[in-house]
Amino acid sequence: MSNDQIPGYTMGEDSVQEASISMEEFEQLKQSVMFTEEDEEYLQEAGDILESQIDDILDVWYGFVADHDFLVYYFSQPDGEPIDEYLDRVRDRFGQWIRDTCDTPYDEAWLDYQFEIARRHHRTKKNQTDDVDAVPNIDLRYVIAFIYPITATIREFLDDGEHDSDKVDAMYHAWFKSVVLQVTLWSYPYVHDGDW
Ligand code: HEM
Repeated sequence: MSNDQIPGYTMGEDSVQEASISMEEFEQLKQSVMFTEEDEEYLQEAGDILESQIDDILDVWYGFVADHDFLVYYFSQPDGEPIDEYLDRVRDRFGQWIRDTCDTPYDEAWLDYQFEIARRHHRTKKNQTDDVDAVPNIDLRYVIAFIYPITATIREFLDDGEHDSDKVDAMYHAWFKSVVLQVTLWSYPYVHDGDW
């Protein structure tokens, strides 16, 4: 599925507000997670390996959410009924996110879109993209905690039997750094002005 066919995916579109930090500040954040140009290259290689496995990866992640009612809650109406269409539409954008995570270097459009993803998890914009009446906000503690499952579960997909363990390790660490970087950006709307 190409980008412009993914409902609600708006990276690079005029509707996306400018990032709340400059590219220079973003550069410093990258340095703070030890994210280098080498990591950018490892992520590109990871993207080649992951592309054909995106559906299987999403099955693992969605399975993890499905196994925990307190996580399905965020895709549900306040009365507790999960909204299948919402789950499906987000799944397509999640698949594109795997591609975008591996599509380095990250440019301004990418940085702008991180703040959009942040708003979509937060009450400032959750539910609007898919016009659903789900619960209004995703609690930040789960977004942060997800760094681990979203990272740990990717390793078996990177390890496709065609790369030595040092290479798999390098791609894995590049992925880990990127997820930490992104979740850090996504925490922005949850933090008091001046404290982030
Ligand atoms: C949306 C990734 C944590 C629930 C999304 C999207 C991505 C994503 C890529 C779609 C962005 C777009 O619209 O283009 C992630 C990652 C996480 C994380 C990488 C942590 C490392 C969580 C958690 C929950 C959650 C903990 C709660 C179970 C949702 C929901 C949406 C969403 C409900 C739709 C938001 C909307 O209404 O627009 N997530 N997510 N996410 N995510 Fe997450």
